[in-house]
Amino acid sequence: MTDDGPDDQPGPSRQRDVYMQGLADVTPDLPVRYEGLEAAALEALDDDAAGYVAGGAGGEETMTANREAFREWRIVPRMLRDVAERDRSVELLGRELSAPFLLAPIGVLSIVHADAETAVAEAAADLDLPMVLSTASSVRLEDVAATLDDAGGRGWFQLYWSSDRAITESMVERAEEADFEALVVTVDTPLLSWRERDIADAYLPFLDGEGIANYLSDPAFLDRLDADPAENELAAVREFVDIFGDPSLTWDDLAWLTDLTDLPVVVKGVLHPDDARAAMDSGADGVVVSNHGGRQVDRAIPALEALPDVVDRVGEDGAVLFDSGIRRGADALVALALGADAVLLGRPYVYGLALDGADGVRAVCENVLADFDLTLGLAGQRSAAGLDRSVLRKREG
Ligand SMILES: Cc1cc2nc3c(=O)[nH]c(=O)nc-3n(C[C@H](O)[C@H](O)[C@H](O)COP(=O)(O)O)c2cc1C
Repeated sequence: MTDDGPDDQPGPSRQRDVYMQGLADVTPDLPVRYEGLEAAALEALDDDAAGYVAGGAGGEETMTANREAFREWRIVPRMLRDVAERDRSVELLGRELSAPFLLAPIGVLSIVHADAETAVAEAAADLDLPMVLSTASSVRLEDVAATLDDAGGRGWFQLYWSSDRAITESMVERAEEADFEALVVTVDTPLLSWRERDIADAYLPFLDGEGIANYLSDPAFLDRLDADPAENELAAVREFVDIFGDPSLTWDDLAWLTDLTDLPVVVKGVLHPDDARAAMDSGADGVVVSNHGGRQVDRAIPALEALPDVVDRVGEDGAVLFDSGIRRGADALVALALGADAVLLGRPYVYGLALDGADGVRAVCENVLADFDLTLGLAGQRSAAGLDRSVLRKREG
């Protein structure tokens, strides 16, 4: 239970700060509405970066469907249930989170802001939200871990499974040594999808040397090169492209990975309940129901539609996290009520980063947290962990 008094909880406290500033005619620096935030960020970014972040696979049907799926579920608020103090905390992988949010792994943030993952780490630590750091980060994992550590933050490491097993092993070892708390193994990206915006722009940020800091600092990766990357960056980039993914992986390989590490392993990118079961049977501690924000399989089912069946199939055996389409507090409440233990915030914080670095990430996350806190209370619910499907009604017809 939170120690905050009613007025110190994130919703009322954020409202108070904003409205008090309004008395001096000061309005928030960043657009508050998600639609305005996205538009302003895409305007601020160069065209290649904007297309990379905002874009999805193929005709972007799944990206659109991710949002539409939320419209299928409505909250049925309950009244007069003493919601003066709300407990937003949840337990995940045996540890408490002060709110049911993590920052999703997003690669190549140097194309969005010069402070990249360092800014995200600072903001995440300030807000006590775990940051899931991408393998494809622009800043070395050890440096991000140091930033998190200095600021009292928490980190999980997202693993892209290289076709060279020595590199995969090395990355896992480095993540362990840097004290990341969990591994998030992304399984929906053995290949990069057909992303029409990036193809039209003929743009892949990695080819510019962006987002490969963890590879250029990895002993197993450097072993593969004939020359120092500083002398021949193109050769290093080509090597990265060759070993980035492994389309030959199977669930047996996952069992190899869960045996390799003592860290909890969460499998990200699961949509079918049988895959969730296979993940658990291979020794995973949880799954992330996600379609990578519509960036991998166009016409894949919306992640929210996949969530209830996965929750039912995993049961009490592991954690179920959710992403792909979370924009506001009510979205998070719906995902939690459908059985997610926590949600990952993706593009919204990247747009905050684009507009104002660490302050932008902080502002966006604070708004989502405030909105969630208020929606929770106004729905007549006192506890994030206690949400269940009885809070929801499915749209009819
Ligand atoms: C620009 C961009 C880069 C991403 N990079 C990664 C990554 O490196 N690793 C990963 O597992 N997921 C990656 N994702 C997927 C996110 O972790 C998350 O699943 C997705 O953003 C959720 O969709 P939403 O942002 O539309 O809510 C990326 C997403 C975006 C938009």
